[in-house]
Amino acid sequence: MAEGNYLFKPIKIGNKISENRIVINAMECCDSDNDGSPGEKTYRRYKRYFEGGSGIVVLEAITVGYESRSRLNQLSIMPRNEKALSKFIKEVKAINPKTLFFLQITHSGELSNPNFSRKVCVKPLPGFGGDVLSEEDVESIIDQFVISAKIAHSAGADGVDVKLCHGYLGSQFLRPFNDRKWKYGGSWENRTRFAYKIYERIQNEIKDSNFIVGSKVSIWEGFPGGCGSAGPDTAIIDLSESLDLVKGIEARGAKFILVSAGSPSITLALSQPDKKIPDDVYLHFTFQKAVKNAVKPGTVVIGSAYSVLRDGKNNLQAVNSDEASLKYWGNKNIKDGVTDMIAIGRQSLADCYMASKLKTGKDKDVNWCTACDQCIELLIRQKNVGCCTYDKEYVEALRKIRREEGLLKAKRT
Ligand SMILES: Cc1cc2nc3c(=O)[nH]c(=O)nc-3n(C[C@H](O)[C@H](O)[C@H](O)COP(=O)(O)O)c2cc1C
Ligand code: SF4
Repeated sequence: MAEGNYLFKPIKIGNKISENRIVINAMECCDSDNDGSPGEKTYRRYKRYFEGGSGIVVLEAITVGYESRSRLNQLSIMPRNEKALSKFIKEVKAINPKTLFFLQITHSGELSNPNFSRKVCVKPLPGFGGDVLSEEDVESIIDQFVISAKIAHSAGADGVDVKLCHGYLGSQFLRPFNDRKWKYGGSWENRTRFAYKIYERIQNEIKDSNFIVGSKVSIWEGFPGGCGSAGPDTAIIDLSESLDLVKGIEARGAKFILVSAGSPSITLALSQPDKKIPDDVYLHFTFQKAVKNAVKPGTVVIGSAYSVLRDGKNNLQAVNSDEASLKYWGNKNIKDGVTDMIAIGRQSLADCYMASKLKTGKDKDVNWCTACDQCIELLIRQKNVGCCTYDKEYVEALRKIRREEGLLKAKRT
């Protein structure tokens, strides 16, 4: 048994301290107001996250440019949102000033929704595509990232997560698939230019050693030419570029690496291990360990994809359930030097009070995520997102959507 309370040991991250090792992962819930600023439901969710006792909360993917969004009600971080974001950050942090708050800044690139925004790409990927970006376009997107980081800083956030994962623009540049001959493609030096320029400019222009910068990275995306594959036409795992990337951003000031995998629009079960076949969670452990070995002591590694483990009642085989739970693996992986912290994604929607319940020995009171993925159904349908198992409001919302669609289908036939 990996007993001990490793999950509740404080840890230094940059110049700050996280009270424990539990992170609320970025979780888009599509409930901004019409300006892209936090709406009523956004306030409610984050106030609860701050009550919930996790060491760090990462704000969901917040777009640096309104023209390239993947969700209609996605949060935005542009000069026009600064006042609203300052108010929001002040209010949620007042609930628990010890919890650190990072904002995940992003651009959707080829995952932008063409129904209401401009879909753009570095090189058209089959089934995705969009307008091919010019070098001038890329330079203005880099400006947008830097402006957003400055807004996050002046609005009172503890840091930013420069999103380099899950198939959004930051990861699209890095892929071996991006073999287009241009300043931002082809050689590894060119493919990392976008990420490195953002880091270098943030360091040069913010100049605050208390402001924490890091990235969530898809170590292996799991399709031919994706990040972490051995070439543009193979999916065979070769982590050399991904590990070089984490060292590259670390050298440019990254204080944490949030390790993820997959690209949910392409390889969903890899990013978010599936309840029927949860085994990919072990791949995540392997990637976390590889990153931990690659970075310097002091750079904080945060592992993700732990939700599927639950209280040990999951579909993992050949293990006893008391050695298969989120709590067991969280403690063991921290103790064994696989990761420094664990992030919870779906589990944070199911029960954002998990950290405080585990800390006070109320494990039995935790609403364990069933990994039913109905919250993703709401996300895909561009609706307000919440847990469709434990939160009556979202259980009812999903029911209503399905009923209305059923009626529409019946009318059509
Ligand atoms: C509804 C929903 C929204 C998500 N939004 C984001 C997001 O904004 N940014 C991000 O990096 N990952 C996002 N993810 C992925 C999670 O942060 C996390 O990486 C993934 O769910 C695996 O962790 P888990 O097994 O703990 O859920 C989202 C996942 C879900 C289900
Ligand atoms: S809807 Fe299902 S997968 Fe999503 S948080 Fe709730 S229990 Fe977990």
